[in-house]
Amino acid sequence: MDKFKSQYLELVAKTNDYLHNRLDNMEKYPKIIFDSMEYSLFAGGKRLRPVILLATHSLLGGDMRESLPLAGGLEMIHTYSLIHDDLPAMDNDDFRRGIPTNHRVFGEGIAILSGDALLNFAYETMLDNALLYPEKILNHVRAIETIAKAAGIKGMVGGQVVDLENEGKDINPDTLQYIHDHKTGALFRASITASIMLEEPSDQISNALIEYGRSLGLAFQVKDDILDVVGDNKKLGKNTGRDKDKGKATYVEKYGLERSWSIASELIEGAIGQLDIFGLEAEFLRKLAKFIVERHN
Ligand code: IPE
Ligand code: IPE
Ligand code: MG
Ligand code: MG
Ligand code: MG
Repeated sequence: MDKFKSQYLELVAKTNDYLHNRLDNMEKYPKIIFDSMEYSLFAGGKRLRPVILLATHSLLGGDMRESLPLAGGLEMIHTYSLIHDDLPAMDNDDFRRGIPTNHRVFGEGIAILSGDALLNFAYETMLDNALLYPEKILNHVRAIETIAKAAGIKGMVGGQVVDLENEGKDINPDTLQYIHDHKTGALFRASITASIMLEEPSDQISNALIEYGRSLGLAFQVKDDILDVVGDNKKLGKNTGRDKDKGKATYVEKYGLERSWSIASELIEGAIGQLDIFGLEAEFLRKLAKFIVERHN
């Protein structure tokens, strides 16, 4: 196995162990809500956002034990966003992470509540951790704040609103970019800014990493749009062709496949270019950026 892959899998394992420990230590009542949360949280998933958060924290000289609860919290927020995104009232999807969607198994009511529960549990988790670092409490509050803003109305939720409102419409390029930058880009950027808040690097380093995150997040969603057209259901773990069915505003719909590929590749080249100031130490983040466009799932 190559070095990138083994480092990636190590960060995924750290995240998964953390999430398991966090949930194992609880009294599971009411049981159905824990079953529903764990069903989606442990169904697989690439764990990209926690991996980026941990890798960035380590690049900035931080101790990953301190950022692991933030990585776990971010993954809980992402998983909640997927459960709600799949509901009949939103994208109405039947498969996610290789298994039937949460509402198909637990019903819509429990799916809504387990999304709500994951969202709140994310903040409980991140705040409990912040209290362990009284000497760095302001750093932790700022890290949690950056995640809250990214997940909220000016971030992921805002993007989801504009996504829904534009189904079936021909939209302008700025609105399309707004949707992608917010519904998806925001949580990617937060995975970078959370670590920046913890370690307070120089402006030069912060700006380079933030720009890396911005391009990466947008490229990720452009590739998601591409995979909805050319991807394989089994590899993706979700049904393809759904964007067309729903009349979604996507890069493929707006620019065609070929142009979308070049937009994604250019964004990734731009992201990698931001890492020059780090030299070899940023090799993992460079490889990760390549993985974002090359992935099949
Ligand atoms: C899917 O995200 C939702 C989008 C933002 C496109 P991921 O592709 O990261 O989903 P998982 O976590 O690997 O299942
Ligand atoms: C979802 O975008 C972004 C979220 C906030 C969940 P999509 O609707 O394109 O994600 P998929 O394709 O269902 O994973
Ligand atoms: Mg959606
Ligand atoms: Mg969807
Ligand atoms: Mg999609």
